[in-house]
Amino acid sequence: MAAGIDIMSVSKGLKSENDLETKSRPYFNHSIELKRRCTKEERAKVLASVGLNVFFFPAEMVSGCDMLSDSGTTTMTNEQWASLHMGDVAYGSNRGYFVLMDQVKKTFGDGFSNSLASGKPNAFLFHQGRAAEDALFTALGKLGKDMVIPSNGHFDTTQANIEANGMQALNLFSPELGAENPESHFKGNMDVTRFKKLLEESADRIPVAFLTITNNTAGGSPVSMRNIEETSRLAHDSGIPLLFDACRFAENAWFIKNYENGYAKKEIRDIVKEMFSHVDGFAISFKKDGLANMGGGLFLKEGGIFMKKYNGLPDAIMNHQITTEGHPTYGGISGRDIMTIAVGLDTVLKDEYLDYRIKQVQEFGLSMHGLGLPVLMPAGGNAVYLDVNKFFDGTGIKPEDFGGISLTALLLANYGHRACELGYFAFGSYDKSTGKRTFPEVNFVRFAVPRLRYEKQDLESVAVAVKTLYEEREKIPPVEVVYGEDLPLRHFKARFAFRRQ
Ligand code: F0G
Repeated sequence: MAAGIDIMSVSKGLKSENDLETKSRPYFNHSIELKRRCTKEERAKVLASVGLNVFFFPAEMVSGCDMLSDSGTTTMTNEQWASLHMGDVAYGSNRGYFVLMDQVKKTFGDGFSNSLASGKPNAFLFHQGRAAEDALFTALGKLGKDMVIPSNGHFDTTQANIEANGMQALNLFSPELGAENPESHFKGNMDVTRFKKLLEESADRIPVAFLTITNNTAGGSPVSMRNIEETSRLAHDSGIPLLFDACRFAENAWFIKNYENGYAKKEIRDIVKEMFSHVDGFAISFKKDGLANMGGGLFLKEGGIFMKKYNGLPDAIMNHQITTEGHPTYGGISGRDIMTIAVGLDTVLKDEYLDYRIKQVQEFGLSMHGLGLPVLMPAGGNAVYLDVNKFFDGTGIKPEDFGGISLTALLLANYGHRACELGYFAFGSYDKSTGKRTFPEVNFVRFAVPRLRYEKQDLESVAVAVKTLYEEREKIPPVEVVYGEDLPLRHFKARFAFRRQ
């Protein structure tokens, strides 16, 4: 064949193949599920019947996007579906347990995976993250009185498990969180100045310190390697173990690679290992970056401060696990699901997957921002967070009107999209006897993006729907709480009604 012009030279100057606009998704659909058609009137009727609490609204009737959570909502890969069939249902030491322990070692580094021979358990499986938290904090709560567990931001179940065991859950959010600076990429950091002060004043009251990666309560924002290192050094200097709440560890690593000096050329897998080299253990829900629909765990580093300092705790945790979940080798997860976690932990670190995943969330954030909606920028790894106070600014909606609840109810009824209030209602409280209300520092409605589930068109439709409500925000009525304002974890249970202003 005659030598013509080389393709590469003709292609010079064209837009990069890595541009999000020119690049297609790094996967294609393996199977699809048709949605049930459902009218606005049907949704409104059912939503009213469940007291406007979106958690009680039937998922089948969510005819738009279900952004209630990115937890357990991942569309699994064909490899994961295939692995389900490889799982066995043995009552003890099922095949998946060994596969998973091997993968834990590969992903997080030596020391976290159970050495059954050593006799001291250090890896515990649970059916989901909060069960791991329950076991850990039940054991820690027995160590003393007046204890406090600091964190860059506790998730609601973590906070509830700490408080249920008589301890205080303290959030030391980064001062950057509230700053209007889209160039500030690590808004999830621990406020180390406040952490240092706390250690100086009351190190003896702190059994463990926590870092949530990424920081779900603080806009899903990541934590920098520098902050991990610094928090670890401060905790360790005071003899305090540092644990990760590691649900979104891979997403956190992506941000370090892309935005922290010195990490651009490093492999995500190595960044993850470096992150975990600074901690003494981690609690995890595999329903996020495990890409699985169920599963959780608690992993304590062999030779780490936790294992050295709390010699009796691993046995106490294991007893708790056996009485509430099952044998340590399955811990409440079916052998089949365990296999999907092992595969998921490998897939989640693939550059193609992770790059697309986070850029999709970022682009969704940019769409909302571009439409003039007050969203936290830059967007976090798992969700876009709408600032409820800014959304209702100037409308007369007061904190106790819970505008975030009104917004999620109207979005669901009108457009079929389900989002979650994570703000004044979810994290606030009400004391019936004194009539005193507390409101947290943050007031968001979160649009969580389930992994591998939605396409650009879906997310764009949510942005436009929210914009439509924003344009009519003057007309959005407040809610009154008709049941459950004084209950713990009240957002899961409460009932509301729209109130005339
Ligand atoms: N920690 C964090 C940071 C979480 O985001 C969650 C769950 C948990 C712990 C508890 O894990 O659900 O397996 O018991 N977050 C979900 C969410 C529910 O929607 O953000 P779990």
